Amino acid sequence: DYHSYANIDEVVITHLNLRLKLNFDNNIIHGFNTIIYNKKKESVKQLILDTKDLTIINVSHMKNHTVVPLTWHYGRKDKILGQEMIIDLPEKDGPIYIEYLTSPDATGLQWVAPEQTLGKRYPFLYSQSEAIQARSWIPLQDTPQVRQTYRASVTSNRNITVTMSAFNPPRRPKHIKKYIFKMPQPIPSYLIAIAAGKLKYKAISPRSGVWAEKEILDKAAYEFEDTEKMIQAGEELYGKYEWETYDLLILPPSFPFGGMENPRLSFITPTSIAGDKSLTSLIAHELAHSWSGNLVTNASWRDLWLNEGFTTYFESRITEKVNGKAIKDMEAVLAYQDLVNELPTLPKKYQSLALGLKGKDPDDAFSNVPYTKGRMMLDWLELKFGRKKFDEFINSYFKHFAFQSITTEQFLDYLEKNLLDKYPNTVSLKQVKQWIYKPGIPKTAIIPHTDIFATIDKQLKQWLDNTISLADIPTKSWATQQWLYFINHLPKNLDKKRMYELDKSFDLSHSSNTEIAHVWYLQSIKHDYRPAFSEMEKYLIHIGRRKLIRPLYEELVKTPENKAWAKKVYQKARKYYQNLARVTMDKIFSK
Ligand code: BES
Ligand code: ZN
Repeated sequence: DYHSYANIDEVVITHLNLRLKLNFDNNIIHGFNTIIYNKKKESVKQLILDTKDLTIINVSHMKNHTVVPLTWHYGRKDKILGQEMIIDLPEKDGPIYIEYLTSPDATGLQWVAPEQTLGKRYPFLYSQSEAIQARSWIPLQDTPQVRQTYRASVTSNRNITVTMSAFNPPRRPKHIKKYIFKMPQPIPSYLIAIAAGKLKYKAISPRSGVWAEKEILDKAAYEFEDTEKMIQAGEELYGKYEWETYDLLILPPSFPFGGMENPRLSFITPTSIAGDKSLTSLIAHELAHSWSGNLVTNASWRDLWLNEGFTTYFESRITEKVNGKAIKDMEAVLAYQDLVNELPTLPKKYQSLALGLKGKDPDDAFSNVPYTKGRMMLDWLELKFGRKKFDEFINSYFKHFAFQSITTEQFLDYLEKNLLDKYPNTVSLKQVKQWIYKPGIPKTAIIPHTDIFATIDKQLKQWLDNTISLADIPTKSWATQQWLYFINHLPKNLDKKRMYELDKSFDLSHSSNTEIAHVWYLQSIKHDYRPAFSEMEKYLIHIGRRKLIRPLYEELVKTPENKAWAKKVYQKARKYYQNLARVTMDKIFSK
């Protein structure tokens, strides 16, 4: 794994015991990390850890019942990877203690000011460790090839609730200010997560529920009330849910992703709460990671498609069971079109499923490729072998590699033996390798289709030809996905009068559905429809989810006038964005 300095061929961490003090006065975590490790070679003399912007206070171990210091030094340093920390191992094996401070600008932590929360009175903290930011708040071996259990005890200097990606008891006595967490299953470092805020819990089922600020707790619990159904759908498809409980944590709108599959506690953007359950595939996605990703993990970020492609495929299978095939198909078409639009903008090395990431920040390669191209390959295999055989294969794949981290090549090997060779003359290894190692979309791909969108094409054309009016289109019964398709397919040369007519009829500039607002703002920029700009400004300042804001900035910087406008907005918005979003948007403006 070229994104970690750790010497994992020689020694691997097996358990972390964390003591964390959250300080909201200076945005610093004071951490004590007790590391349990396993030597793979008796001769190993050093433990090499990943760190990023940490201040190390003390490194020690226990000798004859007293704590004695251990020698250590910094090694290589890199802007993307952080700093190598080399610790001389004690002669007698035993735990190593590291006392440290995080930086207020730790790239994996977001300290949210009270004004940016719903309650406005208490701050909020959340982590985002994937892909390589865990090292900015815990010194550890920051590679998905190492799995560890962990325990944590956390205190803070505010009267707020702390949660982690671990056993997370919701009903805890009020007077207890120390939060204790246990993660008994071994997990990779990128799944270690923490969040703290004025949070309340509402159960959805005996094993699942929602954590959120009280202002949206009921709304979120309603929106995601199908979560238990989704867990059951997942279990019917690919076997037992291995993590006992499954909760959702609703984050402030600066959260840079739609969701993050932190085990037992998915982190979820509030922008997915539309009021009508129309964006809940996100939950199916994060939940599906409980198998693809958290159980069977990509060995390095080059293999990200093993996490995201499998999960996107699995997500669609859950969506089909819980929300129906129509929604599943519409989402597949929309995702395919996003992929087709994005591919030409990507370098060839980011177009293959196995990514060419050497020397690169894994975040640079983040695109629809691992997701949608990965899913399309699995759709193709499903079609070729039939659902029954393919599902059997995936079931055995999850069982075989459970709690392991694997490379793309290990997958290929397993696929060849357990599917391709088992049912010969169906699919060749060469065809599969084309998906994995070659850019673009292979000719074998099945192009997603739905008649629902064909109907919209027709209606849109009729409206443009003046044979029908907007009122004649049955938009009242439209799902979000139909709106997205309709707005995405407005012609390039649509005049402003038509844009105005659409806005007047459907109030799109004020849409409370963040996905619909997103595509509408994108069209508003392309068509220079200025009446949408003031709402778009509020949106860009309020929301920090990259997928929703990045395409808008990218479109805005294309003309000097819009670029100047966008710069001003970004100047106001930037301080609210999380690190990953800042890095992405900074790049757009520096080009
Ligand atoms: N694990 C990802 C987020 C991620 C990927 C973070 C790579 C850092 C590096 C998460 O499961 C995800 O895919 N989120 C998507 C959800 C969507 C596809 C439903 C997102 O945030 O857009
Ligand atoms: Zn994912």
